[in-house]
Amino acid sequence: MKKMFGVIGDPIAHSMSPAMHNDLFELYGIDASYLPFRVIKDDLEDAVKGLKALGTSGFNVTIPHKTKIMPLLDKIDPLAEAIGAVNTVKNENGLFTGYNTDGPGFVKGLEGHAADFKERSALIIGAGGAARGIYLSMAKAGVKRIDIFNRTMEKAEELVKTCPYEVKSRVLNRANAERLLGEYQLIIQTTSIGMVPEVDFSPLSLENLSTKALVSDIIYNPLKTKILKDAAINGAATQNGIDMFVYQGALAFEKWTGIFPDTQRMKENVLRHLGGYTC
Ligand code: ATR
Repeated sequence: MKKMFGVIGDPIAHSMSPAMHNDLFELYGIDASYLPFRVIKDDLEDAVKGLKALGTSGFNVTIPHKTKIMPLLDKIDPLAEAIGAVNTVKNENGLFTGYNTDGPGFVKGLEGHAADFKERSALIIGAGGAARGIYLSMAKAGVKRIDIFNRTMEKAEELVKTCPYEVKSRVLNRANAERLLGEYQLIIQTTSIGMVPEVDFSPLSLENLSTKALVSDIIYNPLKTKILKDAAINGAATQNGIDMFVYQGALAFEKWTGIFPDTQRMKENVLRHLGGYTC
């Protein structure tokens, strides 16, 4: 029987996940379909019950449901529990298990740009939901130093305090982050600064940036944010958010099918949808 997968969120019309996963099902000869479902906040519980009653094999979860869905699932993977968000659900013998592949997807995407990432000193900009997933996944992967700069320092302090993995971390204000910038070989931008309407803004000055650094932005629209342009001008390597998006999808696909898919093909597919090209 044909298997059903999907993504629930609101808004959902512009999600690139259906095109990405349906292409993979076809590529690997898997008889399955992946559909977008707009689910408003008040309908989340009914939607999860419905997906279970219909025997859905798995689904992705996006804004605004990543945290609220957790008590509605049967099991939660420990990393997703620590992050406090689920973006992937798998039906395991009738029980829904929640995973987080966003943070691990970011880490997997790093491997291609900085194979030595575990040895690098990292600075994360931001301390929201996305930063939380990335910080904890990097700490779990064995990165030894991860400092955080966030406008609201208390949020960064909370993140450091609640981390169950061994890692050295300092919480910095903007002035200190800019002053110490040369110490980092990995800088990860997780805020919305750089997206429309803030395309001409960067969360911090890169004056002291090391040319040995990789600057990674999780934004993929636009493909080149202001901070990535500044990084390139300063001679540093750059990575945009396409990798994180593609690898979170690849890890979800692997959980559902046991196949780690062709990420280069996925990237090309996503870029076609965005109508652009990346380095
Ligand atoms: P997400 O799930 O995408 O991470 P979020 O949890 O709302 O979204 O987090 C947004 C992050 O972007 C936070 O780190 C936020 O900083 P605060 O904790 O101080 O709110 C940061 N952010 C958003 N807009 C910002 C702005 N204009 N200036 C500085 N930081 C900003």
